Amino acid sequence: MRAFRPRTVIGRAASARIQRPHPLPTPSSPVQAASSLRQRGASHLWPSLSCASGPCRSYSIDRRPPKPPPFAFAFDIDGVLLHVAKPIPGATQALQYLQKHNIPFILLTNGGGKHETERVADLSSRLGVPLTTDNFVQSHTPFRELVHGSLGDIDIDVKGLKDKNILVTGSDASKCRRIAEQYGFRHVITPADILAAHPDVWPFEPLMKEVYAATARPLPDSNPKIDAIFVFNDPRDWALDIQIILDLLQSKEGVLGTYSPKNGRADLEGHGWQADGQPPLYFSNPDLLWSAAYHLPRFGQGAFQAALAGVWHEVTGGKAPLKRTVIGKPHARTYAFAERVLNAHRAAVLGKDEKEIHPLRNVYMVGDNPASDIRGANEYESPLGTKWTSVLVRTGVWDPERGGEPAYEPKAIVGDVRGAVAWALEREGWDARWM
Ligand code: G3P
Ligand code: MG
Repeated sequence: MRAFRPRTVIGRAASARIQRPHPLPTPSSPVQAASSLRQRGASHLWPSLSCASGPCRSYSIDRRPPKPPPFAFAFDIDGVLLHVAKPIPGATQALQYLQKHNIPFILLTNGGGKHETERVADLSSRLGVPLTTDNFVQSHTPFRELVHGSLGDIDIDVKGLKDKNILVTGSDASKCRRIAEQYGFRHVITPADILAAHPDVWPFEPLMKEVYAATARPLPDSNPKIDAIFVFNDPRDWALDIQIILDLLQSKEGVLGTYSPKNGRADLEGHGWQADGQPPLYFSNPDLLWSAAYHLPRFGQGAFQAALAGVWHEVTGGKAPLKRTVIGKPHARTYAFAERVLNAHRAAVLGKDEKEIHPLRNVYMVGDNPASDIRGANEYESPLGTKWTSVLVRTGVWDPERGGEPAYEPKAIVGDVRGAVAWALEREGWDARWM
């Protein structure tokens, strides 16, 4: 196997000063100033004099509006900007620098469980940087497109779920319900609702009895038809959620409490599993591991997905792989969604219509997880021809001591987010020594 050498490896952090790529010479006279500017093909700069305090000095004022930088950034959150609640050193400076120089960026996380407005407010206060939902994408944000239609331009077998019954679960399912309702879904059911209506659905003492009792709502009817199942973020009660989700995947047309006669029929394709109008299953985040406060990475939603798929394998005798839709990094659906958000934000920042500005040449995806951030950026093919360039930081999931070479090769490995921004600015011809 070819020895792994990422194109660029930069030390833990860099400190520096920023200058436009056209540092001005100090001319001896306005005429000389003007001529040297002409030589530099910068005749549009206008020499002028200031003699207020001491000997005359001439300098030039660039009267054209600054050209939008042809590049932008996408920042992962956990392991790049924050460890759960604690900002990672350099994160604030990096974002402040980009805002000061009108270099667009988005925050692109596989995290979730709070509505975007709430999460952005929390992030702004922790990082001390004003942020908006205009340039913010969480794992479940793209699900809102399923309220009225399919997810982006990628065909999905369900059109418009606004008036359909959907099951939602996550770390705090009732909170996920509120997020789904804020997205526009009108009939949102949680495992707690089903447990309250049918206590025998779970033959053991429920783990989060008080939470379920406090958050359960009556079902629309005793055995509702569920039209889609969403895992919004990392569930807490894996056992109950796996039971209820797999009950629905074995049901007849998604009707709670039923069992499809097609299940296990060898004469049918896939032995008849998930072949009787059962609800589609959506996962928002495939991360097996993520970088939390603990010094070792922790299991994420991907581990829950693996556990559920493992039980499904046992239930079906391995005769039918679990049909599911997974979004979140590294999946193209999420990068396509993020790119649309980034371009709309960039146009807004520039006060222009997207069509009026050149597409981005480069987006630097700064992440800590090779399997999601790096792989996603490496494999994403932008319909606009924008190149997504992956930059891996050492402040999160990936640690060479523990995991050796990253499973997906980044364009560069850097110490932290500030190093990542400095590396990209340098590459774009910006003198990043201010970083
Ligand atoms: O649960 C969140 C985790 O999977 C990773 O989040 O911000 O590193 O994409 P992030
Ligand atoms: Mg991360």
